[in-house]
Amino acid sequence: MMTKRRTLSAPEVIAKKRDGQVLSEADIHAFIEGFTAGTVPDYQATAFAMAVVLRGMTFDETVALTLAMRDSGRVLRLGRHAAPIVDKHSTGGVGDKVTICLTPIVAACGAIVPTMSGRGLGHTGGTLDKLESISGFRVALDERELKKQLRQVGSALIGQTEHLAPADRRLYALRDVTATVESIPLITASILSKKLAAGIDNLVLDVKVGRGAFMKSTDSARELARSLVHTGRLAGMNVSAVLTEMDAPLGMAVGNALETVEALSLLHGQGPEDLEEVTFAVGAEMLRIAGIAKTKSQAIRRMRSAVEDGSAAAVMRAMVRAQGGDPRVVDEPDRLPSAKHRGTVTSPRTGFVREIDALEVGIASMKLGAGRTRAEDSVDPTAGIVLSVKRGDRVDAGSSLATLHASKPSLLQEAKTQVLASLRIGGSKPKLESRIIETMRR
Ligand code: URA
Repeated sequence: MMTKRRTLSAPEVIAKKRDGQVLSEADIHAFIEGFTAGTVPDYQATAFAMAVVLRGMTFDETVALTLAMRDSGRVLRLGRHAAPIVDKHSTGGVGDKVTICLTPIVAACGAIVPTMSGRGLGHTGGTLDKLESISGFRVALDERELKKQLRQVGSALIGQTEHLAPADRRLYALRDVTATVESIPLITASILSKKLAAGIDNLVLDVKVGRGAFMKSTDSARELARSLVHTGRLAGMNVSAVLTEMDAPLGMAVGNALETVEALSLLHGQGPEDLEEVTFAVGAEMLRIAGIAKTKSQAIRRMRSAVEDGSAAAVMRAMVRAQGGDPRVVDEPDRLPSAKHRGTVTSPRTGFVREIDALEVGIASMKLGAGRTRAEDSVDPTAGIVLSVKRGDRVDAGSSLATLHASKPSLLQEAKTQVLASLRIGGSKPKLESRIIETMRR
């Protein structure tokens, strides 16, 4: 008679992974259950994370970890809707305000879009911080409020509640301070467990690649995208990924209220070209995966008419009103808070803008007050940078390259030097490429 193997203890799980062996589904579940219950302490969870960073995981192990983290808390049932439910997730970048304009556009095209976002940490901004620059806007909806809003408005812009995938939240906080974030299986399980717990069945990932992103090379971004798409499928979700370039900031604005203004301008057909390109590429994939459009060009036509006929802006107004904010900001962005002090960065020479380093701009914006260095820090909604130029533009010596926004004049000087150093001005016009690298569906 076969006897059922006992599950391994936490030190045995860590040792097995440390030695490069494959863990069983039961062992991974028992470990995460113990971590959630508090019987596996933080130091063992951290040692486990480091073993995974160094040894990796098979797809089956990654699926087991994803499902174990999903099951560490509540799993939402978003209820029956006449339209398909679809969400997006970005791996994070500088000037990435896509979620704010994309959610109402895709909802106006007929999908149910319960977008769950995070806060910024380090040089990358977070959608929740940007939305909170709208006075009164509540990102913490409970389950009942969320379901009601999805029925009435068709979309919501919210944060993860503490009941969803709590094991991920705790493990992520440990990874953040123990150099264990950079692991494809851990990132995959972290992102997908939250989305599965939120009841999402169709998901499009915007995997950012470049200097301002988490994944610096196209190869590593492809590997992450493949892991997310494949693991998502095995875990029962319909997932695809769009790889988009993040060497330079997206759009012209970096900072919370400043980015919200720019995202709202796109809803009126006036956003910067590269922001529109990425928004429509990710949106087209969302409409395709949800079965609302058959082709990219059909999806883009639909999104364009949602902007032109005002229906996307109408969804945004309804969302802002439902979540406690003043809907007039959608048409009158001057109502958003603005900084007391401004400084201009001017060009030292005549030439062409060849590069704008997103990482440097992100750090400069953070230092101006737009970002945080510790999770518990608060952000200044008014701080940030508005670039006056984009790659390929011709500039004259002394002309404006960027305007800096801050609450104290003392913050401006250091940021000026950093923003200036982030821009490379050369003698010839650079070759300009699309922001969209590729779409991965399997
Ligand atoms: N975003 C997440 O949600 N989790 C990670 O591990 C990395 C990025």
